[in-house]
Amino acid sequence: MPFSPLSAEETTPSQVTLSIDGFPIRVPAGTTILQAADRLGLRIPRLCACDRLEPYGSCRLCLVQIEGVRGTPASCTTPVAEGMRVQTQTETLARLRRGVMELYLSEHPLDCLTCSANGDCELQEMAALVGVREVRYARPEPGCASPMDTSNPYFRFDPDKCIVCARCVRACGEIQGTFALTLDGRGFATRVAAGQAEPFRDSECVSCGACVQACPTAALNETAVHEKGLPDRAIVTTCAYCGVGCSFKAEMKGNEVIRMVPAESGRANEGHSCVKGRFAFGYATHPDRITTPLIRQSIHDPWQAVSWNEAIAYAAAEFARIQAKYGRESVGGITSSRCTNEETYLVQKLVRAAFGNNNVDTCARVCHAPTGYGLKRTLGESAGTQDFASVMHADVILVIGANPTEAHPVFGARLKRRLRQGARLIVIDPRATELVRGTHVRATYHLPLKPGTNVALLNALSHVIVSEGLVDEAFVAERCEPEAFAQWRDFIAQPRHSPEASAAITGVPAASVRAAARLYANAPNAAIYYGLGVTEHRQGATAVIAIANLAMATGNFGRPGVGVNPLRGQNNVQGSCDMGSFPHEFPGYRHVSDAPTRALFEAAWGLPLSSEPGLRLPNMLAEARAGRFKGLYLQGEDLVQSEPNQRHVRAALAAMECVVVQDLFLNETSAYAHVFLPGASFLEKNGTFTNAERRISRVRQVMPPLAGYEDWQVTQKLASALGYPMTYTHPAEIMDEIARLTPQFRGVSYAKLEARGSLQWPCNDEAPDGTPVLHVDGFVRGKGAFLLTEYVPTPQHPDARFPLILTTGRILSQYNVGTQTRRTANTLWDDADLLHLHPEDAAARGIADGDRVHLESQVGSTILRAVLDDRLQPGLVFTTFHFPESRTNALITSSSDWATNCPEYKVTAVQVRRVDATMDLPSFVDELPPAFDLPHKLVEMANQIGEFFAAQPEREAAVRAIAEHLEKFWHPTMRERLVQCLQTEEHSLSPLVREAARSLLERVT
Ligand code: SF4
Ligand code: SF4
Ligand code: SF4
Ligand code: FES
Repeated sequence: MPFSPLSAEETTPSQVTLSIDGFPIRVPAGTTILQAADRLGLRIPRLCACDRLEPYGSCRLCLVQIEGVRGTPASCTTPVAEGMRVQTQTETLARLRRGVMELYLSEHPLDCLTCSANGDCELQEMAALVGVREVRYARPEPGCASPMDTSNPYFRFDPDKCIVCARCVRACGEIQGTFALTLDGRGFATRVAAGQAEPFRDSECVSCGACVQACPTAALNETAVHEKGLPDRAIVTTCAYCGVGCSFKAEMKGNEVIRMVPAESGRANEGHSCVKGRFAFGYATHPDRITTPLIRQSIHDPWQAVSWNEAIAYAAAEFARIQAKYGRESVGGITSSRCTNEETYLVQKLVRAAFGNNNVDTCARVCHAPTGYGLKRTLGESAGTQDFASVMHADVILVIGANPTEAHPVFGARLKRRLRQGARLIVIDPRATELVRGTHVRATYHLPLKPGTNVALLNALSHVIVSEGLVDEAFVAERCEPEAFAQWRDFIAQPRHSPEASAAITGVPAASVRAAARLYANAPNAAIYYGLGVTEHRQGATAVIAIANLAMATGNFGRPGVGVNPLRGQNNVQGSCDMGSFPHEFPGYRHVSDAPTRALFEAAWGLPLSSEPGLRLPNMLAEARAGRFKGLYLQGEDLVQSEPNQRHVRAALAAMECVVVQDLFLNETSAYAHVFLPGASFLEKNGTFTNAERRISRVRQVMPPLAGYEDWQVTQKLASALGYPMTYTHPAEIMDEIARLTPQFRGVSYAKLEARGSLQWPCNDEAPDGTPVLHVDGFVRGKGAFLLTEYVPTPQHPDARFPLILTTGRILSQYNVGTQTRRTANTLWDDADLLHLHPEDAAARGIADGDRVHLESQVGSTILRAVLDDRLQPGLVFTTFHFPESRTNALITSSSDWATNCPEYKVTAVQVRRVDATMDLPSFVDELPPAFDLPHKLVEMANQIGEFFAAQPEREAAVRAIAEHLEKFWHPTMRERLVQCLQTEEHSLSPLVREAARSLLERVT
C-alpha cells in the first residue's frame, strides 16, 4: 500500500493585501480578518474567539463590514481576501454589538463588584468596549439555574456566570484532547456539561486547566482566586515536575502563589499545562516542610535542631574524619534531577574537588542512564534529537515503553493533536495505554509484547526493514559507518531475528510486527518516542541502541518530524546528566580520563582531579555493605523509596557513618541520616532546568527560601567547610563557569536566556541560537554507528513460585515517590498505589475488585488493593510507586542494565494472593537482607557485559571491547576485585570476560 504523506504544517502560504479601517496590511492567505486586525493593533470586540482555538463564530460580537459584501460577517471566521476593504467601527456595527452585548448581559447576574473575576473578565472588558449603558431585558428567573460545581479541588464551575461561548468545550477538545465537556440542551437552556452531566471530579476531566484559562468570565475560575482574590504580580518560571519543562507564570499575592498560569511564550508547552504543574504546587508551603537543620550522632538518636553553621560544620567534620580513617574513596555524593543545573553542577564539583574522588552519581542512574550510553555510542550525543514541536511534522509515530498522556501530559496532548490530524501511531507496550484506544485516538498497531523482550521485538522490526528492502540506502551510505552497517545488516538479517522466530519470545504475532515495520519504514517522516519502559531493563542500553539502529536504517534523522526522543521522567534529568553527574564524566559528557578535558577543569578549579571513574550509586551501596563506603551527601533523592531492593538499600545506608540528606521533607531515607539540611523548592530559587528536548529554561525565585538558603548556597557552604571555598554570589555565575568549561553550553548565559526565553543546547559559536534538531548534516560522532543488539532474556521470568510479571509506572495525578503530589489535593484522585491485574488472573486467585492482595517477589512483599484491568495482558500485573507505605520498590530485585546498572524496575516475577482485611503489611522489608556477596555480584555484572559484546563476530574485538568498557565505567577497585575473581571464581566468569579480566591484569602488571 503506497504511503500518502500528511500535509505538513503550512509550507509557505501566499500573501494577501487588504485594508482594515483604511490601514493597509499584508498577511498570509488563510488569516482571518480578526487576526489581521489584531496585527494592526485594532481591537475588534469578541467573546467566543480565543487565540489558541479554532474560529467558532457563535457570539456575533466581532461583526465587521466589508466593501461590496452584504451583511455583517463575523471577522473571526471570515478569511482575508486580496484587495478586501474592511470597516470595524461604524454606527451600524456599534448598534449591533451593543444589542448582542445587551442580550448577554440580560442573562448575566451582573454582580461584578463581588465577582471573583472582577478586573480579569473579558465580558466586563467587552461590555466597556462596546459601550452598553443599559440592559432593557429582564433576567430570566433563576429557577432553572444549575448549582455551582465545586467538586474539583482546584477550580469551580458557576453555571450562572456562563455565557455559553464554548471556549471551554473547545479547549478541552482542541488543546487537551480529552473531550470531557459538551454543550448540553438547546437555545436558552444550553449548558456546559462535564462528562454525562456529572460533577467535574467524576467526569473524564484530567484537570489540565485549559478550560479555566480559556473561560472569559468567572464561570470557570481557580478556587484560590475565588478565595483569595486576584494576584498582584507575576514571574515566569519553569515547572518542577516532569521532563516536558512547561513554562508558567507564577501569579503571586505578596509571597503567596495564587495560581500558576501556563505561559504561551513557553516553547515546550505553548500555553498548556497538566494538573501537576498547573495546580499541585501547594507542597512548597506544606506544614511538613523542615526549615531548621538537624543533626544526630546515631540514627537511633532523636534529631537535634541546630544552626546552619553547626550543621554544615558537623557534616564537613564527619566527612573529613571518615576520609582520614577509611580513605579518600569512602565518601560520595548524589545529585538530583529535581534540582537546577547550577545545583547539580556544584554537587559534582564538590565531590570531584572537595572529596577528591569521582564518586558522584545521580537519580538518572535509575531512569535514563541507558539513554546516555546508547545514544552516545550510536549517534555521538547523549540526548534526544528533536524539539517537541517536531512531532507536528511526523507522519508515523512509534511510542515504545512510554505512556505520555499520564507521565508527560502536555507532550501527550500535543501528540494526540497530531494524531487527530491523521498521523499514524504504533504503540509497543505490554499494556493498552490510553494512546492505544483513547478518546479520538487509536493506535494503528499495538504490539503488546511480554515485558523484558524489547530488544527481540526491535530486532524483529529491523529484520523486516532489512529483509524487505526498506533500508534508506542513500542515507546509510552517506551518514553511517559502512563496515558497522554491513556487520549489522548480516546480524539482523539472520532468520532467528525474524518476526516469526521472535513471536515465541515477544508474544507479538509476526503479522503485526511486519505491518508495523512497513508502516514505520515507509513513512516520509517517522519519529520514535520512548520512556522508562525501554531503559529500566536488564537490556536497557541495548534497546536504546536498537532504537537508534532502526531510525538510522530508515533515514529518520536530521529534520523535523523524525528522530529518537527519550521522554525524560523528571524536570532536570537531561540537565543533571549534562552537568557531569555521572562518575565517569565531566560536564558535557567528557570522560574523566581525557587528559585535555581534565586539564581544563584542573586549571579552572585549581587542583588535580582523578582520572579514574568513580563509584556508581549501586556500587556505593554495595561497597557500604562491604564496610568500605561510609559517607554520602544526598541532594534531593529519597534512595530508600526510589531504589530497588529496599532491604539492601536500608542495610547499606545503616552501614554508613555519615549520611547527609538535603530535602524539603523528612523522608524514608532521612531515617538513616545523621544530618538533615533543609532544601528549597523550585519557587524559592534561581537557576535553570533542561528538559527532554535539551531546552534550557530559567527557574526564577518567586518567594524567599523558607529555610533561608537556596540549595546551591548550602552546597557552597559545605564545600567551603570541607576546605574547598566556593564564592558564587548568584547562579548566573555558576552558569558562566559551566559555559566556559562545556562546549555544548559555551553560548549560554542568563542574559541570553532573558532575551530568548529558552535555548536548546548545543548553543555555542556554531549554533548561537541553539539547536532544535540534532544531527542535521551529520551525526555528532561523525558517521552513525550501527551496533549489534543480541537479545538476552532476563532471569526475571515467570515460574511455579512467581508465575506473574510485575511492571511499574506512573499515573497522571501523582509523581514519582510522591514527595510533592502526596502533599497536594491530587490525593483526591489517587491516594494509594493499586495492583492492577487481568480479570483472568484475578478469577484464578479468587480476587475481586477492591480486595486486599499480598504481592511477593524473590526479595520483598507488600499488601495492596486490587483493581481488575483488562488493559493488561494475562500474566502481567502493574502498580505504581508513589506512596511509601506501599513499598513497591521493596519487590524489585537488583537485576540491572548491563551497561549502566539502571535497575530492571519493569520486570519482576511475583505471586499474588488474596488476603483478609485485617492482615498487616509484612515486616519483611525491615528484616536484615541476606549477606551481600560482592564477588558474586561483580561476576554477574561482568558476565552481562560479556553477553552484549559476545555478538561481535571477532573474538578478539569482543574481548577488547569488554576490557575497554570495564576501564571506562568501572571504579578501579571493582576492576581489581574482578581480576581477583580470576583466582577465586574463574569458573563463574564467562570465557570472554575471563580473557578481558586477564588483559586488565596484564596491563596493571
Ligand atoms: S480541566 Fe482540562 S480536561 Fe478538565 S474539562 Fe477543563 S480542559 Fe477538559
Ligand atoms: S464556562 Fe466559560 S468558557 Fe465555558 S461556555 Fe461558559 S463562559 Fe464560555
Ligand atoms: S507536563 Fe510536566 S512540565 Fe508540564 S505542567 Fe505537567 S508536570 Fe509540569
Ligand atoms: S468572536 Fe467572532 S463570533 Fe464570537
